[in-house]
Amino acid sequence: MNLTPRRAVLAAAARFAFAVLALTPALALAQAPIIIKFSHVVAPDTPKGKGAQRFKELAEAATQGRVKVELYPNSQLYKDKEELEALQLGSVQMLAPSLAKFGPLGVKEFEVFDLPFIFKDQAAFRAVTDGPVGADLFKKLEPKGIQGLGYWDNGFHIMSANKPLHGVADFKGQKMRIQSSKVLDAQMRALGAIPQVMAFSELYSALQSGVVDGTEGVPSNFYTQKIYEVQKHITLSNHGHLAYAVIVNKKFWDGLPADIRSTLTGAMRDATTYANAIATTENADALDKIKASGKSTVYTPTVAELAEWKKALMPVHKEMEARVGKATIEAVYKAAGFVAPK
Ligand code: LMR
Repeated sequence: MNLTPRRAVLAAAARFAFAVLALTPALALAQAPIIIKFSHVVAPDTPKGKGAQRFKELAEAATQGRVKVELYPNSQLYKDKEELEALQLGSVQMLAPSLAKFGPLGVKEFEVFDLPFIFKDQAAFRAVTDGPVGADLFKKLEPKGIQGLGYWDNGFHIMSANKPLHGVADFKGQKMRIQSSKVLDAQMRALGAIPQVMAFSELYSALQSGVVDGTEGVPSNFYTQKIYEVQKHITLSNHGHLAYAVIVNKKFWDGLPADIRSTLTGAMRDATTYANAIATTENADALDKIKASGKSTVYTPTVAELAEWKKALMPVHKEMEARVGKATIEAVYKAAGFVAPK
């Protein structure tokens, strides 16, 4: 077809406009950020909440907006058990459940971290997670479609109830909320209490209404969930340890462009260092605020009382060998420099 010069220009312009229009969805798609939904059960103003926020900031800055991290704190998307199912289904991409919540997934070895008095301090815990035991445990998640990215510390457990919990006899018949770990169940029974598994999001109202009498937990969670308002007495027993594994849906993670995955790995490493660095001070600050509120008494057990707790609780290590695995327990003992109390 012979076109006048003017018509030829118009036709070329139309072809160009068409090509641009046809390309637009592809361009938009290429530029749409990768979304990571990161769900967790605690308040934003806690070591885990702050660690998640730090990861978001680092990841978004380092990928220059190619990745967007959406945080869903306070169980607003899913509760404890549901969030693990949601991760496996790909409804969320990232979580940071406590190590006490992996049993229902079928990876019972994680419950080794719940054995009473197993870590003398936070360095002992880190020696385990930073070494081969931490890496081996993450490998056990892979067949479940989960990839482990980091371990975040949150300090030592304290106990609370509406009666003072000083000696072991004080626990008799107390209904105590626990996370889903069978080791924690055995621990409460060894104290003479009645354990009750319950989602974290239900704890405050269960304590308020008397469905349970008491709980264990860390000061940062006691403070942000206002547990101290519905518990008259707190004991600084430090009998157990709370930590998290930051995990992602493996299919999602493996499917990321390699450069993005390595940038996110770096962001997670830095967020992990940060979360671990703030855990002690965040919990100490929370405990100060609880003390200042005057709503709960805060009791430090005597040496003799603690010896009694240990005597009652140490048999749980042996009792749980069949569940957690003797080899896992021994590997943790070795890495943590565990010495059985006399
Ligand atoms: C709990 O359920 O008590 C804790 O695991 C909550 C948390 O994530 O710190």
